[in-house]
Amino acid sequence: MKILMVCLGNICRSPLAEGVMQHLASEAGLDWQVDSAGTGGWHVGEGPDRRSTRTARNHGIDISKQVCRQFRTNDFDRFDHIFVMDKNNLTDVISLARNDQDIQKVKLLLGDKVVPDPYYDDNQFEPVFELIEGGCKDIIRELTKG
Ligand code: 4NP
Repeated sequence: MKILMVCLGNICRSPLAEGVMQHLASEAGLDWQVDSAGTGGWHVGEGPDRRSTRTARNHGIDISKQVCRQFRTNDFDRFDHIFVMDKNNLTDVISLARNDQDIQKVKLLLGDKVVPDPYYDDNQFEPVFELIEGGCKDIIRELTKG
């Protein structure tokens, strides 16, 4: 299974989602490949936001070696599922889709809720981590059932 996590900057939310999903999948003995990207390109080449790195580390997950990159059209070919954090991400990613098959790969990580952008509020990183962790657990359950 190949999974891509997408947010706006690829420095706060989607690096956490990549780290958490990779961690949970490995723990469950699943050979899943997880990556992340941003719809915007401002931080390309940088590591994750330190607040995300610290929050992940507090939960035993190392995301410090991730490198920010921008979402690109061929990600639709490279991944089975593309999980986005909020509705702007959904619109932005779907605007690059070439066909229905591409569109069907794109879903909100939390199904019908959004993961809010924590960039301007240091206190939001822990709650955002917990939202992401819950979403990843639900997805693993859903994709491994039956
Ligand atoms: P993220 O948060 O989408 O969770 O990575 C953001 C990080 C940076 C910016 C926006 C959102 N920015 O505009 O630089």
